[in-house]
Amino acid sequence: MRTLELHDGVVRMIDQRLLPGQLVYVEIRDYATVARSIQEMWVRGAPAIGAAGGFGLALAARASTAATSDAFLAEMDRVGQELYQTRPTAVNLGWAINRILNKAHASKLSVAGLRDLIVAEAQAIAAEDIITNEKMARYGASLINDGDTIIHHCNTGPLATVDVGTALGCIIQAHRDGKKIHVLVDETRPRLQGARLTAWELMQYGVPMTLIADNAAGHYLYRKLANKVFYGADRVASNGDVANKIGSYKLAVVAHENGVPVYSVMPTSTIDMALASGLDIPIEERGADEVTTIDGVRFAPVGVQVGNPAFDVTPHKYLTGIVTERGIVYPPFKENLLRIMDSAEG
Ligand code: MRU
Repeated sequence: MRTLELHDGVVRMIDQRLLPGQLVYVEIRDYATVARSIQEMWVRGAPAIGAAGGFGLALAARASTAATSDAFLAEMDRVGQELYQTRPTAVNLGWAINRILNKAHASKLSVAGLRDLIVAEAQAIAAEDIITNEKMARYGASLINDGDTIIHHCNTGPLATVDVGTALGCIIQAHRDGKKIHVLVDETRPRLQGARLTAWELMQYGVPMTLIADNAAGHYLYRKLANKVFYGADRVASNGDVANKIGSYKLAVVAHENGVPVYSVMPTSTIDMALASGLDIPIEERGADEVTTIDGVRFAPVGVQVGNPAFDVTPHKYLTGIVTERGIVYPPFKENLLRIMDSAEG
């Protein structure tokens, strides 16, 4: 079961807004609807939206009527911009779009050749995502021991990627390896990715779990009822500061205070070496309705002022390790991230 795929000019993706109630695939035939699906979070999770962005560009390439290569490339640049603006924090979206456009610009091909190149590169990004996640899952699973109780934030499972997942991929791998583990699943307000998606995925895989309110994590950590924290990342700065789902920072600080290790898991495509620190990472602000309503039912007073940052930054001093497909990175993160980004895949 893939989160999303492209076949014969049709993007097929799970509409994650409907889970866990209904498992529905939607079919998308134009890039503008792909852009909408990313913005409205039919598809979400950093690697999944990177793959979706690539597929959006592929649909635009197939539909283009440009007569010259220059006109075609100018149109693809415009579409790339439009897709990239849908969600600003997860760098995988820009990474995927730039990877495809850079290859197209460097190729000097005809319009037909460029069209094939863009579709092939988008497919390659999606296929590589699965292999990358499998490698990460093995590295991350090596950090998990028999008897561990792990707090997990947001959704980082197969649904957040093309398949396999990032942090949750490591946890599922540890379970498959026969380790007796338990997962405390943060519900992850305001959109409840933990309660809706992570709980559903772990139940599919038979991983023992307990759903908790985000506010309960401190209780479990203080009482030594949890001994590891795992979450993903949407963008990592070159010093190791990690932007991830809102609430990750608070969780990491409380874990650190209680001597509990915190691991963030991401493909190297999530690491943005152009940024000096987490303060440079753009944080997406989403609509007020995500905070004032659940499933369309309003519980906050009409007219209340709302703040809804979708992500926060965990300063690197709170992280024990960063897990990538090239291996596990430990402090000092600045030096060691530089080394791993320059290295070949492990
Ligand atoms: O707003 P979302 O649901 O796209 O946020 C997802 C996360 O924050 C994940 O933890 C992150 O993308 C990394 S895991 C694939």
